[in-house]
Amino acid sequence: MSHLKSLPPDIPRDKLPRHIGIIMDGNGRWAKKRGLPRFFGHRQGAITLRHMVRYCNAIGIEALTVYAFSTENWSRSEDEVSKLMKLMKKHLGNMEMYLKDNIRPQVIGDRSRLDEELQRKIALTEETFCNRTGIRFNVALNYGGRDEIVRAAKHLAKQVQEGTLRVEDIDEKRMEAEMYTASLPPVDLIIRTSGEYRTSNFLLWQSAYAEYYFTDTLWPDFNEDAMNQALRDYASRNRRFGGV
Ligand code: FPP
Repeated sequence: MSHLKSLPPDIPRDKLPRHIGIIMDGNGRWAKKRGLPRFFGHRQGAITLRHMVRYCNAIGIEALTVYAFSTENWSRSEDEVSKLMKLMKKHLGNMEMYLKDNIRPQVIGDRSRLDEELQRKIALTEETFCNRTGIRFNVALNYGGRDEIVRAAKHLAKQVQEGTLRVEDIDEKRMEAEMYTASLPPVDLIIRTSGEYRTSNFLLWQSAYAEYYFTDTLWPDFNEDAMNQALRDYASRNRRFGGV
């Protein structure tokens, strides 16, 4: 268990979230503050992400889902979109990164709109590491919470149409099973960086009882201390799930 050492002693292990979601916001502003092109912020953000996956894995978080590209992000400049996609290819194709750790990477979202090379890289990465037992690392790519719910509704409707599902049998559990995150623990904590207070279509279904944590820190500046701060805050909350 030596790899579990690095959690600060004031954060109780039994109060750690099992599944963390992160809206990695503020890359563009981070770059702008330094007089750099926006892309530099994304590049630095990817480095931050690598550290955070490793850290979360080391302290025993079971799943981490990060918002890398939303269904709305296509409206950014062609240049920014193409550079972001290149960055994803580089990282998802960088097996070295996962080989050393026991990380299990996976992509969630509608991948049909991604280019073929990226789709291939994703499939290969997922296949290569599918037996890993460490943190489930989900990269939300061309992901939208509403899109995910629509997709679920369509899939259930199709089964009804085909006669394999009865309308009366559609319940929350059934919907839950249609979500990209079906096999993961419930999302306990959602972190958004950069001082923005929106959910921006991230994990809409899953966030029903998640705790939100907002920080002014820009994503490229986020680090272990910032994560510990979020974990401390989360540990101090009283989660009632609608009860008293
Ligand atoms: C939001 O910052 C960030 C994004 C839209 C991209 C997030 C992507 C990464 C961190 C790249 C790494 C991901 C992988 C999987 C390699 P923003 O551009 O909206 O920042 P701003 O609000 O300051 O403009």
